[in-house]
Amino acid sequence: MSRYRRVNLTSTVVVGCPGYLRNAVYPGRGCCVGVLSSAQEYRSVDSASHTEGSAPDLAALRRAYEGRPLLESDLAADPIAQFTAWFAEAEAAGIPEPNAMIVATSSLGGRPSARTVLLKDVDARGFVFYTNYESRKGRDIAENPRASLLFPWHPIRRQVRIEGRVVRVSREESAAYFESRPYGSRIGAWASRQSAVVGSREDLDARYAALAARWPDDVPAPDFWGGFRVVHAEVEFWQGGVDRMHDRLRYRASEGQWLVERLAP
Ligand SMILES: Cc1cc2nc3c(=O)[nH]c(=O)nc-3n(C[C@H](O)[C@H](O)[C@H](O)COP(=O)(O)O)c2cc1C
Repeated sequence: MSRYRRVNLTSTVVVGCPGYLRNAVYPGRGCCVGVLSSAQEYRSVDSASHTEGSAPDLAALRRAYEGRPLLESDLAADPIAQFTAWFAEAEAAGIPEPNAMIVATSSLGGRPSARTVLLKDVDARGFVFYTNYESRKGRDIAENPRASLLFPWHPIRRQVRIEGRVVRVSREESAAYFESRPYGSRIGAWASRQSAVVGSREDLDARYAALAARWPDDVPAPDFWGGFRVVHAEVEFWQGGVDRMHDRLRYRASEGQWLVERLAP
């Protein structure tokens, strides 16, 4: 397995000035991705779709994707090395919450659902997020332990799509991450029966206050809360190209190796 730089996702900071509104120059190989040339261009796309009081003209909303193509020779030997390189570039471009990803799950009956969560760890074992195990996604995963992840890094015309089986991270790992969270988030994890119907905002706040009174200092890690790791079997790197001739390069695990295949856009 090739070496890669580990990204510390627990300390991702949202920078105040959105760098994707500026010209961006990327260091290293294969990094030029046609970031928006100016704030002007970014705003003109928005204004085309939003005349106040009228429905947005979604059919007219399109953006030309220009830049250097993504070639097989640009890719790292393994998908995690490639992901961490692209993640660093997404951060450098000032994308807000670059670790925000869509997680798609499905019930055993085939009813899909998707939501945003935050990536909190990534290494050769997979992609980790934390949640309530009794939430809708938690129940889906219990029934059907597979998921698809999507990083929508639109301002730099990139997306990364991941598929794989899902496993729980160890209790120790979950407890260690829980400890690192701010006090309010730890109480919040207890207070929210995630995905259940609640009577009112007041009910939710009263539950939070009662739990904060119960644990004014140390908050134990709930056993219904913890991490899931998506063990990547496929990772696709998508980069927008001219005339919708986008680049799609997919790593696929096959007999202990990573195969790279190009997909039609
Ligand atoms: C930017 C963002 C980050 C989020 N991060 C998380 C997260 O890390 N874990 C989580 O359980 N929910 C997170 N949520 C809330 C989820 O999108 C979702 O509402 C919640 O997990 C319940 O989903 P479910 O009912 O499908 O299980 C986040 C939402 C947003 C918009």
